[in-house]
Amino acid sequence: MNQAREIKEGIYWIGVNDRRTHIFENYWPIPKGVAYNSYLIADEKVAVIDTIERSKMDDYVDNIQSVLGGRKVDYLIVNHMEPDHTGAIRTLLAHYPEAKIVGNAKTFPMLKNFYHVSDNLVEVKEGDLIDLGKHKLNFYMAPMLHWPETMVTFESTEGILFSGDIFGAFGTLDGGLFDDEVDLDYLEEEISRYYSNIVGKYGQPAQTALKKLGGLPIKMVCATHGPIRRSHIADIVAKYDKWSKYETDKGVVILFSSMYGNTENMADMIARFLVAKGIRKIRIHDTSKTHPSYMINDIFRFRGVIFGSCAYNGGIFPTMETMLSELEHMGVKNHVTAFFGDKMWSGGSMPRFNQFAEKMKWEVVAPAAEAWGAPKDADLEQCRQIAEAMAAKLDELYK
Ligand code: FEO
Repeated sequence: MNQAREIKEGIYWIGVNDRRTHIFENYWPIPKGVAYNSYLIADEKVAVIDTIERSKMDDYVDNIQSVLGGRKVDYLIVNHMEPDHTGAIRTLLAHYPEAKIVGNAKTFPMLKNFYHVSDNLVEVKEGDLIDLGKHKLNFYMAPMLHWPETMVTFESTEGILFSGDIFGAFGTLDGGLFDDEVDLDYLEEEISRYYSNIVGKYGQPAQTALKKLGGLPIKMVCATHGPIRRSHIADIVAKYDKWSKYETDKGVVILFSSMYGNTENMADMIARFLVAKGIRKIRIHDTSKTHPSYMINDIFRFRGVIFGSCAYNGGIFPTMETMLSELEHMGVKNHVTAFFGDKMWSGGSMPRFNQFAEKMKWEVVAPAAEAWGAPKDADLEQCRQIAEAMAAKLDELYK
């Protein structure tokens, strides 16, 4: 069904909501769904900017046809090749075969490899212009936000940045499209989780893009996911600046893996000792129960991260290994850490934790606490020392 909506004179949102997919990219949970935002500018020339994921083709074509009637599409701008935004390219070309595809030198090999499309291409470079009539489009490269070919499109007449994944969010658009029409409090975690989960690996490219785009007279930001920004642009830019610098708040995330509760008891005691030292923002997660998406998001919020694992087959517990691998893969920076666990007869998880700390270059604030079976008084004393060292470090960092 047609749900296109004019967002500025001659400029339309033609996206769709997805409330059916459970896990985005087949990895990240999206309990509040996701929107695939696509845009259309109907001027002397017609341009479509990014498309959608391929699950709602009929609705997407309805959106376009309702705006255009019998008119043709002159340009399809491909800011980003990931299939959640290119899934409708072949459908769009089936309806509008004359459309020229606008991308950069890195876009087109991807287009060919994903979709066997290699005709009617218009290559643009940094700052190039396409004139639609009243509306002028300039293109700026934003590599690694979130793939190497990624670029953004700036419409200079109205001051609209079509930003691709940058400034995006999980969560569907429930009625409203704009940031002053939707419940941003309800979406807050979905906004930060989208950054930390999808863009979080690319802090330096995000900093580069923010500096480059900061010089543009932007009045509206149209990302490919989440609400359109027109009233709270400074807020999302400030958040991206903070997150991409790996700046965090005073607080501690405790992640544990535990089969029979002994390691979990140590996690609880460390948290108790942290509270005694004045730390108030504490999040404890069981790596067997909580998806890495949420743990990563908390790690992007708080400076202290304390890990604990039971021994499992002579090493670290599998769900903790998954968590460590994910953090290593993302290259998350600028944390202080400590470790605890149950060594059993084999030595357990400490060799892997030490390897992790070295690789991540996170400062270890205290020696590890290692119990053998149920934690004894001496083990709890080690837990107390971890908590006190962590609290002291955070007090020093957030004076
Ligand atoms: Fe929303 Fe990187 O795609």
